[in-house]
Amino acid sequence: MAQANRGRDQFRSMCAECHTSGEFGDPAFKAKWARRSVGDLFSFIHTNMPDSAPGILTEQQAVDLVAYILQLNGVTPGSAQLPPDAARLGAISLASLRS
Ligand code: HEC
Repeated sequence: MAQANRGRDQFRSMCAECHTSGEFGDPAFKAKWARRSVGDLFSFIHTNMPDSAPGILTEQQAVDLVAYILQLNGVTPGSAQLPPDAARLGAISLASLRS
């Protein structure tokens, strides 16, 4: 999926300095985020990451990163791209991470 591929490229250039992709698909990550929404993950990343320079990500970059993280968890949101829109993303539960 094109959006997740963009997210993966961004992850490698902006996030891999501090994170491995594996930590965003491990049981602790799933357990924590399964109680929240796609919008919560989007807002967390957009507001707080990268930890060294919070606020530099555009909403489009943040949502592409979310698409990549969902793909790491085996979640494929279908053919439509996720919108860079916190309200609409807030309506999408992450309960499917609880596998
Ligand atoms: C300079 C180091 C650094 C960089 C670069 C960085 N992060 Fe983080 N990240 C952290 C730290 C430290 C935490 C834990 C702090 C917290 O939870 O507030 C964290 C937490 C997170 C979490 C929550 C993890 C969880 O288990 O709930 C996510 C998601 C995340 N980062 C995504 C990203 C993404 C996406 C990028 C790239 C745009 C990025 N981070 C870049 C240091 C970094």
